[in-house]
Amino acid sequence: MKRQTPPQTYRVKSFGCQMNVYDGERMGELLSARGIRPAAEGEEADLVVLNTCHIREKAAEKVYSDIGRLKKEDGSKPLIAVAGCVAQAEGEEIMARAPAVSMVVGPQAYHRLPEMLDRAVKGERATDTDMPAIAKFDALPQRKKRAPNAFLTVQEGCDKFCTYCVVPYTRGAEISRPFSDLGEEARRLVEAGAKEITLLGQNVNAWSGEDDKGRAVGLSGLICALAEIDGLERIRYTTSHPNDMEDDLIAAHGEVDKLMPYLHLPVQAGSDRVLKAMNRQHTAESYLKLLERFRAARPDIALSGDFIVGFPGESEAEFEETLSLVDEVRYAHAFSFKYSPRPGTPAATMENQLPREVMDERLQRLQARLNRDQLAFNEASVGQTCTVLVERKGKHPGQWLGKSPWLQSVWFEGDAAIGDIVTVELAEAGPNSMRGLLMENALA
Ligand code: SAH
Ligand code: SF4
Ligand code: F3S
Repeated sequence: MKRQTPPQTYRVKSFGCQMNVYDGERMGELLSARGIRPAAEGEEADLVVLNTCHIREKAAEKVYSDIGRLKKEDGSKPLIAVAGCVAQAEGEEIMARAPAVSMVVGPQAYHRLPEMLDRAVKGERATDTDMPAIAKFDALPQRKKRAPNAFLTVQEGCDKFCTYCVVPYTRGAEISRPFSDLGEEARRLVEAGAKEITLLGQNVNAWSGEDDKGRAVGLSGLICALAEIDGLERIRYTTSHPNDMEDDLIAAHGEVDKLMPYLHLPVQAGSDRVLKAMNRQHTAESYLKLLERFRAARPDIALSGDFIVGFPGESEAEFEETLSLVDEVRYAHAFSFKYSPRPGTPAATMENQLPREVMDERLQRLQARLNRDQLAFNEASVGQTCTVLVERKGKHPGQWLGKSPWLQSVWFEGDAAIGDIVTVELAEAGPNSMRGLLMENALA
């Protein structure tokens, strides 16, 4: 590769989960600390970081076509770094197939991006997909993000090895960041304007640590400690695994006001045979019992889940068990996906892979029910008075958009500003959003 002029501007494009969004922000902060500035909207960037996701579909193919399309106005290529889970999974393969890429960096190694950039400017190409446990966080600059809602990664990696999933391979083993580091990062985010923090982890409820008195604590202990931070008004966490759920986290939903009444707890399927083949280590019944306990602790809790249809060998009757589970739970919100064989995972080589048409048809039927329940949940909220954290301006002047405690998108008109927590009456329900009437703006 040729020597390059050092980049002045960068753009990070993040795909996939919220943890990737968090990583993308932190890579941006690293580059900003180097004096490179984020390219404005529409402005060309000298350095592009593709922060990729490998969870479904032809993720890797998409990365190659994205790389092919990246061009500056004069026809030359920007400096290109591939980060995220495709980088971890494909590593050297990307270097071999895409000569335009000068840096490939995995999710546990991106703190070394600045050194790699120095080499890239000299014309050298570099791949770094090491997984040096927690080292990354210590090497990152302090948080700069200014926004009313912020993500905070507290736990990374996964030891569960569900048979369909790449995450244990791309993100490595489960690790928890230390309690004191998290308190520090949360305080900085709040000082910079965050009113809401969402604690992130591939298995966030597997977080464990020692509090400032040396006592062993789980996620609920961390949540209680963060709830003490003045100015932090709302706490959320995602994504949990049913098998890591502890009693005190359930109890916290009834006890900690700042903990929002929302739970994302993926189930994937309603058939015990399919759950077993997925290596989920829970049954439909044990999952439903857990949800009942959450509802007992916090009756208005909004429940959310993830589903996979068309896992290898899933019969029509087994798929219908997923529909029955949905009917029983009545989710406020959910994500549903067609099974996608991931290279290197056990399910990819299982017999009886289902045809695409079967998956399409099942996904449609499942989504029809999930949409029905989401609308019903929103309709049942009409007439309630609640807080909304204002996140951005709406389409029309005087319109604002934010989130209710139940994570519904709410828009309203009136005197407000981004970052305000206002009180609204929920007046009208749509499938994906609610209209609110501004009652009072507590912070105005
Ligand atoms: N750690 C979380 C979520 C991980 S990935 C959990 O255990 O639930 C997010 C979602 O993507 C999963 O919940 C699952 O529904 C979906 N997913 C993961 N691998 C998939 C695959 N191979 N095909 C289709 N969906 C998949
Ligand atoms: Fe993937 Fe299962 Fe781990 Fe979730 S728990 S990240 S679905 S292996
Ligand atoms: Fe995707 Fe990796 Fe997240 S595969 S969903 S970016 S952990």
